[in-house]
Amino acid sequence: MAKKQEIYKCDICGNIVEVLHSGDGQLVCCGEDMKLFEAKTADEGKEKHVPVIEPSGEGVTVKVGSNPHPMEEKHYIEWIEITDGDIVCKQYLKPGQSPEAIFKSIKTGVTAREYCNVHGLWKS
Ligand SMILES: [Fe+2]
Repeated sequence: MAKKQEIYKCDICGNIVEVLHSGDGQLVCCGEDMKLFEAKTADEGKEKHVPVIEPSGEGVTVKVGSNPHPMEEKHYIEWIEITDGDIVCKQYLKPGQSPEAIFKSIKTGVTAREYCNVHGLWKS
């Protein structure tokens, strides 16, 4: 059973979907079960992915990661998301941009996730 905010990928076509409402069914794409992403929380190796949340002005800045993550055509952070209770905000990014996002009006009690097109889903 898929749960709200879970993220699934089709290993055949590359579709990635996020669940907005839970249902009993199994998510299927290209005739196969979609794969659930388990968000990683601990960095390993030289590239850093765990989102870092810092207060900034009227809100927070989320950086990926403790050393800036590459933002190249073949390897970049596709999006950064922040959750504050029932408020969920997502910033999509493109190669060449900084691996960070500013979320105004988000202040405390937040968690962040980000998706690297090579290394998958990460959360703080
Ligand atoms: Fe990466």
